[in-house]
Amino acid sequence: MGAAHFIIPDETGQELYSTPLAVAQLVSLVLVGVVAIIGFHFQWWEGRKFLEIPRPLDYLVVVNVLMFVANIGITLWRSSRRTTTSIVLFMGLLSAALLYLPGMIDTTNQTMDSYWRWWVVHLWVEGVWELIMGAILAYLLIKLTGVDREMIEKWLYLIVGLTFLSGILGTGHHYYYIGTPSYWLWIGGIFSALEPLAFFGMAAYAVAMVRRGGRRHPNSLALSWTVGCAIMSFVGAGVLGFAHTLPQINLYTHGTLVTAMHAHLAFWGAYAMLVLGMISYALPLLTGRKLYNTGVSAFAFWTSNIGMVSMTAAFAVAGVTQVYLERRVGMDFLAVQEELAVHFWGVVLAAALFTIGILAFVYTFVKSGWPVGEVNASATPEYA
Ligand code: HEM
Ligand code: HEM
Ligand SMILES: [Fe+2]
Repeated sequence: MGAAHFIIPDETGQELYSTPLAVAQLVSLVLVGVVAIIGFHFQWWEGRKFLEIPRPLDYLVVVNVLMFVANIGITLWRSSRRTTTSIVLFMGLLSAALLYLPGMIDTTNQTMDSYWRWWVVHLWVEGVWELIMGAILAYLLIKLTGVDREMIEKWLYLIVGLTFLSGILGTGHHYYYIGTPSYWLWIGGIFSALEPLAFFGMAAYAVAMVRRGGRRHPNSLALSWTVGCAIMSFVGAGVLGFAHTLPQINLYTHGTLVTAMHAHLAFWGAYAMLVLGMISYALPLLTGRKLYNTGVSAFAFWTSNIGMVSMTAAFAVAGVTQVYLERRVGMDFLAVQEELAVHFWGVVLAAALFTIGILAFVYTFVKSGWPVGEVNASATPEYA
């Protein structure tokens, strides 16, 4: 949301439609979030993984997101300069908002409930997020590499196409063994196996654009996060997702720590790194303090990444062991958990490294100080 508020005015060359609306939206979103988290501790939750917040709060989220989408949408609508990047970003945000709704369909049937829940969770991370991510990557690459907008935006079309082709029916990889009809084994297997193509496309295009870009933006840290995001999401989502997406494999790995292995690197690469990249790009412009290319900021990048990759490796070892002992040897679930305990020390060590990296990022963030008010337009040269 923060990135959209930064990118859309810059892309359209137009002020945000309403700043008070944006502030009201931020404050109410934080309130709903905090109430939800406090509520969890008082057993106020739904027991539906990733969609835990209770129904009354769902309605507040819907109103909140409508405020956000309206503010961004009107800004875009009123501008005469609508770039591909800004339209793809907006369509991603709008689709994310619409896809929140299937998660609110009431049913007492466990299978039906899971069926709709994946419309939200899967179609968010493996559908609309690629639009949002592709658009933000395109924006950052245009700013940071100096490659022509037309060239970068052509790639963006390709990525959007690949995402829709594979990601929509790829939802089937969550319908293998939950009580849905068996044709999902085929549909899910075939289409989800194609999903890595979109992630590969993004990684290839980020690397290709950096190579092609003649002039270099001084903020090389933001470029590291941007390219890192494209590469790590390919590894985490594309490669490690593929590792368990065929029904023959998923039969054994479903719901084990193999899933947690994939989930961590995918979320880190595709979500966290993108956001940290956007922050790294925007912060010096917003605050006037250029703390990129300092030792601490490079330390934050490398330490958090090495920490997360190590954690993924620890989950992988634990996951494969779990699959073997529980589902091949046939040991009891809790007996296996005891065997796995040692691997969690690996997780803890790696997580400690990761946390140190993130603390270093937070340190640079705080050091950058408050925004100065106006973004200096001349400080955001578009090399096109
Ligand atoms: C940014 C993209 C992605 C993110 C953030 C992501 C994240 C996740 C998360 C959090 C889960 C756990 C869901 C749960 O069981 O509660 C999951 C499951 C799964 N993901 Fe992904 N994923 C991404 C892309 C992909 C891709 C591209 C593939 C396939 C090529 C894939 C294959 C799978 C499969 C098969 C499961 C089910 C695991 C199971 O049966 O337990 N994912 N993903
Ligand atoms: C200090 C760092 C972290 C530690 C120690 C940690 C640990 C864990 C553990 C133990 C689980 C439960 C695994 C299971 O039993 O299935 C888990 C789940 C999860 N974590 Fe983390 N985590 C950390 C950071 C992160 C970060 C930074 C992200 C996202 C960027 C993340 C995303 C997730 C997700 C999506 C799940 C659910 C996975 C699934 O559905 O299988 N975690 N985490
Ligand atoms: Fe999925």
